[in-house]
Amino acid sequence: MIEAADRLPIRLVEFDRVLGGGLVTGSMVLIGGEPGIGKSTLLLQVASLMAEARGKVVYVTGEETLHQIKLRAERLGVKGEQLYLLAETDLDVILNQIEKLSPSLAIIDSIQAVYLPELDAAAGSVTQVRECTMRLMRLAKLRAIPIFITGHVTKDGTIAGPRVLEHIVDVVLYFEGEPFSAYRLLRGVKNRFGSTNEIGVFEMKERGLAEVDNPSKAFLSQRWGEAIGSAVVPTLEGSRPLLVEIQALTNPTSFGLPRRTANGVDFGRLLLITAVLTRRIGLKLGNQDIIANVTGGLRIGEPAADLGIALAIASSFRDVGVDPTLVAVGEVGLSGELRAVSQLDRRVDEAARLGFKRCIVPKAGARVTAPKGIELIPVSTLREAIGVGLVRGKGKE
Ligand code: TYD
Ligand code: MG
Repeated sequence: MIEAADRLPIRLVEFDRVLGGGLVTGSMVLIGGEPGIGKSTLLLQVASLMAEARGKVVYVTGEETLHQIKLRAERLGVKGEQLYLLAETDLDVILNQIEKLSPSLAIIDSIQAVYLPELDAAAGSVTQVRECTMRLMRLAKLRAIPIFITGHVTKDGTIAGPRVLEHIVDVVLYFEGEPFSAYRLLRGVKNRFGSTNEIGVFEMKERGLAEVDNPSKAFLSQRWGEAIGSAVVPTLEGSRPLLVEIQALTNPTSFGLPRRTANGVDFGRLLLITAVLTRRIGLKLGNQDIIANVTGGLRIGEPAADLGIALAIASSFRDVGVDPTLVAVGEVGLSGELRAVSQLDRRVDEAARLGFKRCIVPKAGARVTAPKGIELIPVSTLREAIGVGLVRGKGKE
């Protein structure tokens, strides 16, 4: 166990949570993400906070000029006295500088841009990326300097990116988000010093990344009343309940095969739920295009969101709204039954906290006492849930 005393809080609560309570001395942390998502912005902010609180921080950029970094730093309101910016790609030079300065934190942005001259391989190749990481790791352990490295992943994950590094470093975090949305999630994938799948939520603003301390409220902020094709689901990200809005749109297929599009929900789950709605509930979805969407650019993997997806589709197809004061959670089984989900009490608490009045839960395993202000509605089948959740019991079949 790592004691709290061995951790340095970065003083970004959202970041510290994902690290497991702060930065561990001598640890090596990889931050992966698509280009343009905000890795450099986040780390420059971290650099600034650490420099202010703990003294010297070395920030190495292999991709931008010092001028570019300085412009960004100005925009972010970074205080510069203890921040050492270095535009360098030769890792021997970088390692030397870090040793010489012995900073409280070193940042290498990015690992794909740096290289060891003695290796006969191009920067960004698997050989270079791996060797460079191992050399930095050695320095981190030897001198007890925490080191952050960034790595680009492309959508198909093909380049010599963070994947090959995941087993070398101590902590792997991914910075995610949809380009069209300002929300960014920092997600733990591996953590030798703490729990993995924790998340931190940020919003990209004109002056850098701001922490979002009430993400449920933020993600639901654009929801209006009794919207057709919209359902709210209390999901769980790590230890953290998060209310998200799932939207669906059904539309008659104009020619050829009906199309299914999943943004932020699992494509396989969407097909399964569509099949169950068709066969067990009798919704004629065979000639409908279906789009399912999670608002705010979030991605949900857990089956507990099934019921929300099903409600959103049924609502759109029947053209009746979902009760706006209601949230729904449950895994949908192939017979149309609702299956139990984990940590129901925490989900219900979050829904109550945000002022929701009713919560559909699976009857199986629904032994929860509802907090004040919210009513639990245990149901055993998807059919029952649709009867309860849609505003006017039946629309078109
Ligand atoms: P960046 O940190 O460069 O991404 P990465 O290092 O992951 O490639 O940030 C990319 C985007 O963030 C860029 O398109 C501009 C935007 N941005 C803001 O919206 N506000 C800001 O204050 C900053 C610095 C960047
Ligand atoms: Mg960058």
